[in-house]
Amino acid sequence: MSLFITFEGPEGSGKSTQARYLKDYLQQAGYPVILTREPGGTPISDAVRRLVLDGQWTAMEPTTETLLFAAARAQLVGEVILPYLKLGGIVLCDRYADSTFAHQGYGLGRNLTELREITRFATGGLQPDVTFFLDLPVEQGLQRKRKQRDDFRESSQLALPLPHLPQPTPSQSEHWNRLDAREIAYHERVRNGYLEMIAADQQRWQVFDADIERETLTAQLLAAVQPYLSTIKTLS
Ligand code: TYD
Repeated sequence: MSLFITFEGPEGSGKSTQARYLKDYLQQAGYPVILTREPGGTPISDAVRRLVLDGQWTAMEPTTETLLFAAARAQLVGEVILPYLKLGGIVLCDRYADSTFAHQGYGLGRNLTELREITRFATGGLQPDVTFFLDLPVEQGLQRKRKQRDDFRESSQLALPLPHLPQPTPSQSEHWNRLDAREIAYHERVRNGYLEMIAADQQRWQVFDADIERETLTAQLLAAVQPYLSTIKTLS
């Protein structure tokens, strides 16, 4: 047996950090586990990531954006996720198809039925066994992200200047991308979209309050993952 766990949540909810802790824990406990993320996770998907998140592409059509996320996902599923699951491993993925439903569906107003078809085409219908949703009020999450962006700017300005190299721009920052820059109402629609999906499928989703101590949340996630581990063979 294998296990496919995805992490979802509004911007700045800390899911990437939590996913890393969970991966370290599972690895130390002897489980075969990989952590990947969307968009990204393979050289091709990373190239698509740079394109789709780059702040300079203000004219990008919602349909283009949707198909780029789907393309990055198709590559990640085919190259990494499915092969690892077939080996009986645990795959942790920081965002997956629910991000498309939340952002391009609820956020940008793309038709949800069409998004489901595109997603099925891109993933061959691969669904997570469980999805952890780290919830945080939108404004609070965006504030956390703005702070990360400002810290990034400060640290890149402190570096010794090399005049022939262009200074990094916010659009090149991992911490503030084209989608973060969307208005607050967009992020509210995204969060409400997640809450609607969760209400409709409580079997798969597990919701956590992300506005708590980092260690406490990690402990909660470790406890939540335990019941799924019984079918996974450890490496030793
Ligand atoms: P990232 O820097 O990875 O943000 P986060 O730390 O919040 O995960 O940027 C990914 C962005 O892409 C994020 O704003 C959510 C968005 N996104 C979509 O709009 N649709 C998708 O299908 C995926 C996977 C991500």
